[in-house]
Amino acid sequence: MPDVPLPPRLHVSQHPAIRHKLTLLRDERTEPKKFRELVREISWLVGYEALADARLREMPVQTPLEQTDGAELADRIGLIPILRAGLGMVDAMLELMPTAQVWHLGLFRDERTLRPVEYYNKLPDSATVDLCLILDPMLATGGSAVAAIDVLKRWGAVRIKLVNLIAAPEGVAAVASVHPDVEIHTAALDRQLNERGYILPGLGDAGDRQFGTGRPE
Ligand code: PRP
Ligand code: URA
Repeated sequence: MPDVPLPPRLHVSQHPAIRHKLTLLRDERTEPKKFRELVREISWLVGYEALADARLREMPVQTPLEQTDGAELADRIGLIPILRAGLGMVDAMLELMPTAQVWHLGLFRDERTLRPVEYYNKLPDSATVDLCLILDPMLATGGSAVAAIDVLKRWGAVRIKLVNLIAAPEGVAAVASVHPDVEIHTAALDRQLNERGYILPGLGDAGDRQFGTGRPE
């Protein structure tokens, strides 16, 4: 692993179920249908951990037997999937947080410069949520994540978390240096980037593997 200091706001899941599913996700033999299922399942598990400190409002509830203490989510949660690959994480997060709002951001990485290019932004004029979860399976150079966080902060977002499936140390360091307030939750922290900006060992191109659009070799 390159000698990049890792920030305290990085959470790498240690859950055995996640490690098991990640192994299948990485496997080059895993077909798009199974790959999408795994993206969804791992997203649920990482999202569950990322929401551990969501704020609650106390609320009584009447059971068939008596009234007792209950709680409802007080935070208005915004899910911001980064197109395309982040789309595969949305359904799982909506299962966890059915009232979340979903705001799509389209960014692709220019494969020559590795810089993000914004092509779609459906955010309204000002922030409508208390907690934003950016959904993107891959954190590689960090360019896309930093650009997405820039957009959300300009929008007025204050609490932002990044939810990834695989992160590279370089991407974690890039986010932490520009946006040290942003928590990163990831299923795995991999070794490094290769010369083309792909995560090693990684899983290849997350968008292509979900949507079956990889170019034949
Ligand atoms: C992938 C991935 C991230 C980005 C990560 O998207 O889903 O958005 O690359 O790379 P970075 O950290 O170096 O910016 P890609 O640009 O391939 O677009 P896609 O989801 O449409 O395939
Ligand atoms: N985007 C991906 O989909 N995979 C990588 O390894 C890096 C960026």
